Amino acid sequence: MIDPNAKDLVVGVVGCGAMGQGIIQVALQGGLRVVAYDARAGGAAAGRDAVLARLDRLVEKQTLTTDAAAAMREALSVTDDIADLAPAGVVVEAVFEDIEVKRELFGKLEAVVAEDAILASNTSSLPIGSIARSCKHPGRVAGLHFFNPVPLMRLVEVIKGPATDPAVVDALVTIGTRFGRTPVVVKDSPGFLVNMGGRAFTTEGLHLQHEGVATPAQVDAVMRDCGHFRMGPFQLMDLTGIDVNYPVSMIVFEQFLNDPRLRTTPHHRALFDAGRFGRKTGQGHYRYDAKGTVIDPPSADHATDAAPASVVHVATPNDQALDELLDRAGLSSRADDGAMPIVAALYGEDASGFCARTGTDPRRLVAVDTTGDTSKRVTLMTAPSADPAHRDAVAAAFVKAGVAPTVIKDSPGFILQRMRAMIANLGCEMAQIGLATPADIDLAMKLGLNYPLGPLEIAKEMGVARTHAIIAAIHDATRDPRYRPSLWLRRRALLGLPVHATG
Ligand SMILES: NC(=O)c1ccc[n+]([C@@H]2O[C@H](COP(=O)([O-])OP(=O)(O)OC[C@H]3O[C@@H](n4cnc5c(N)ncnc54)[C@H](O)[C@@H]3O)[C@@H](O)[C@H]2O)c1
Repeated sequence: MIDPNAKDLVVGVVGCGAMGQGIIQVALQGGLRVVAYDARAGGAAAGRDAVLARLDRLVEKQTLTTDAAAAMREALSVTDDIADLAPAGVVVEAVFEDIEVKRELFGKLEAVVAEDAILASNTSSLPIGSIARSCKHPGRVAGLHFFNPVPLMRLVEVIKGPATDPAVVDALVTIGTRFGRTPVVVKDSPGFLVNMGGRAFTTEGLHLQHEGVATPAQVDAVMRDCGHFRMGPFQLMDLTGIDVNYPVSMIVFEQFLNDPRLRTTPHHRALFDAGRFGRKTGQGHYRYDAKGTVIDPPSADHATDAAPASVVHVATPNDQALDELLDRAGLSSRADDGAMPIVAALYGEDASGFCARTGTDPRRLVAVDTTGDTSKRVTLMTAPSADPAHRDAVAAAFVKAGVAPTVIKDSPGFILQRMRAMIANLGCEMAQIGLATPADIDLAMKLGLNYPLGPLEIAKEMGVARTHAIIAAIHDATRDPRYRPSLWLRRRALLGLPVHATG
């Protein structure tokens, strides 16, 4: 077994395209020697030139010294001959995403490198077990899954295939750290960790749109303002490109044997089929100008010139979060006079379900999402037969108080509760199937997708029992197995245990 800490460890990089170049750069920045190989004639040299140009830019920006850049230039050699990878203690493969190409390559690599060298694949979607299948020593084959752009994305997933030797996993953790990345160890499973976990965010946004609950602009605004996500799901899809996220969604969904939790919507596919890939094509969920700025950004705020309400009847008394929100909006609670707006804080239940269960008048009910940050924006929701006058009077009270109301159609769990419960529930499922430790699931989702909190941390913040109640209520309302609570979440909610508790 190679010494992953060896000062003179040589890293082989195979495939000098977008990812290979990033991997070369972080290996060099980690002080390692690199031999880079590409099968395309001149491909490795072109990769080297691109990496060296990037290092030059870092010198210009003064984030790298001239001496350090010169040392890295010295430490990099490129070749069009696979035999030159012989001195590599670890080879990272970043060639085309094709199982036959990778299998054949790994066979050739085994014949070139020392018997104790590690062979790692940067594949996004191919099982490591499948790549290692025809290797003579599958124990030394693992995944080392970087994120694009590699130098900016700190996370690296170390994928343990079914035959991977635990010492190889440990060595890759050390090597990943030497590359300046933060490694998390992940089981060999479709989409690995981040590409599977990320499905909750995008596909639930799409389901809210599909059901006619809210527009992309409304979902995005609520996720940013109330959920503190840097971007909403529709912005994110348009940025990464629907030509990328639709196929990834389908691969993960199909490899999980069509698990409805991972199901996307026909509209996602329609955008893909129409070539509306997002920013890169000028049109996706939004329209963009040549600079990538959204044209005529749709508003998420409810426009009304109604007179603000000042009194309402509260149908869910003793809810502290609701009481505080109503206070801020200058809304006082009174006994129901049969004509005033009725407000209720709902958790996972839709307005129709609440009215049917409690006998509340659906024409006057305005449901309020009290969860998340309501300092800038609040989500209001009504049942199908609601009188818009009551909704507008309550919305106007929030406008007056400087809180933008987003008014949506009836939805179990509004926008934020539903999105966060989905993210948390899928995170719990990842823990249940042993994809990674609960702490690593949180860490990977924060580093890989810029989430403000990891999925289990979201459940902790919302309350384990409440998170379970929300997803269970959505499941009850929809009877859609997409929303079935993860047993991990259910058991911890039932027993009053922390959501991170293992065992
Ligand atoms: N692009 C991403 O965002 C991303 C993110 C994570 C992982 N990945 C994975 O990384 C890998 C590479 O992706 P990319 O975007 O860098 O691709 P790319 O097309 O930019 O580069 C692939 C390179 O591999 C070379 N190549 C192809 N077959 C080869 C072979 N048999 N031997 C040697 N070189 C060969 C090509 O000449 C090319 O230079 C894929 O497995 C992909 O799934 C990509």
